[in-house]
Amino acid sequence: MTTKIIIGSDHAGYHLKTKIAEYLANKGLNVYDEGTHNTDSCDYPLIAQKVAQKIANNEYEKGILICGTGIGMSIAANKIKGIRAAVVSDTCSAKMSRQHNNSNILCLGERIVGESLAKDIVDIWIDTEFLGDRHAKRIAMIE
Ligand code: RB5
Repeated sequence: MTTKIIIGSDHAGYHLKTKIAEYLANKGLNVYDEGTHNTDSCDYPLIAQKVAQKIANNEYEKGILICGTGIGMSIAANKIKGIRAAVVSDTCSAKMSRQHNNSNILCLGERIVGESLAKDIVDIWIDTEFLGDRHAKRIAMIE
């Protein structure tokens, strides 16, 4: 089954979002773009909430949120029950956030990571499975 991914950004993440969405679509993934759709200034909490809520409702399996740093998006998304949003700027953290934390939203900072690194992070994050077992117990404790 094709992974259903939802992606969103504010104005500061718009360019990287466009590139990542295109990259994933070219790989055959099913990607829905929640916006923003231009570089006009907008508020990241609104986009984070829309994306996070759709994942919490099981409309999408995973989400990617991009702002200037990834930090605001992660803080906002993690307010929604069932969301485990991880700000990632290296490939090791991308892998661990899936294996140990079962992250369901990847947050990236356009002002922090370059396009090539962001694509590597996204690939690893999408392809890495949650390990379950002792980690599942800890996720249940968070919930
Ligand atoms: C927008 O200037 C910036 O604050 C936002 O994109 C994000 O980095 C917040 O965490």
